Amino acid sequence: MNLMKKILLAQATVLALWAAGAQATTDEDIAQRIKPVGEVCVQGQECANAPAGAAAAGAAVASAGRSADDIINKHCVACHGSGLLGAPIIGETAAWQERADTQGGLEGLLKFSISGIRAMPPKGTCSDCTDDELMVAIKSMSGL
Ligand code: HEC
Repeated sequence: MNLMKKILLAQATVLALWAAGAQATTDEDIAQRIKPVGEVCVQGQECANAPAGAAAAGAAVASAGRSADDIINKHCVACHGSGLLGAPIIGETAAWQERADTQGGLEGLLKFSISGIRAMPPKGTCSDCTDDELMVAIKSMSGL
């Protein structure tokens, strides 16, 4: 066992102990919660869970369109989850409606989310988001 694996194993153990103490329900839940989000594959060696070409396929999926939740959780929730800096809050449809009414509907909101408006950064920090991806995120957050 090399050093890296030992370190990872030690971290997983600590995490497992914490999970068990803090909010354990079943072993399966814990295993699910602490399973690694990814793995490192070394070029030239076979990768345990990744069939050949999986990395390339994954990249294609990412650029072909992410779900609203993917985008919101990664880029928008930081401000829109709590209303940070005055951002309209996810699910508070009335607040979004008011903006839509005065700014050209959903298309208008999309335009301002692309350009940015006051404390709202351009594209809400999702610089590689397409207009369609931003629109599904806006629809999902606003409920409009
Ligand atoms: C750094 C914080 C921040 C992040 C991250 C952020 N927003 Fe915002 N957003 C704001 C703020 C603040 C406003 C309100 C701006 C104002 O009207 O003063 C806003 C407003 C908006 C509006 C309304 C625009 C209008 O015309 O009134 C939309 C639509 C929007 N955000 C979409 C998004 C989307 C989609 C994402 C994620 C891809 C995102 N935002 C990420 C802070 C953020």
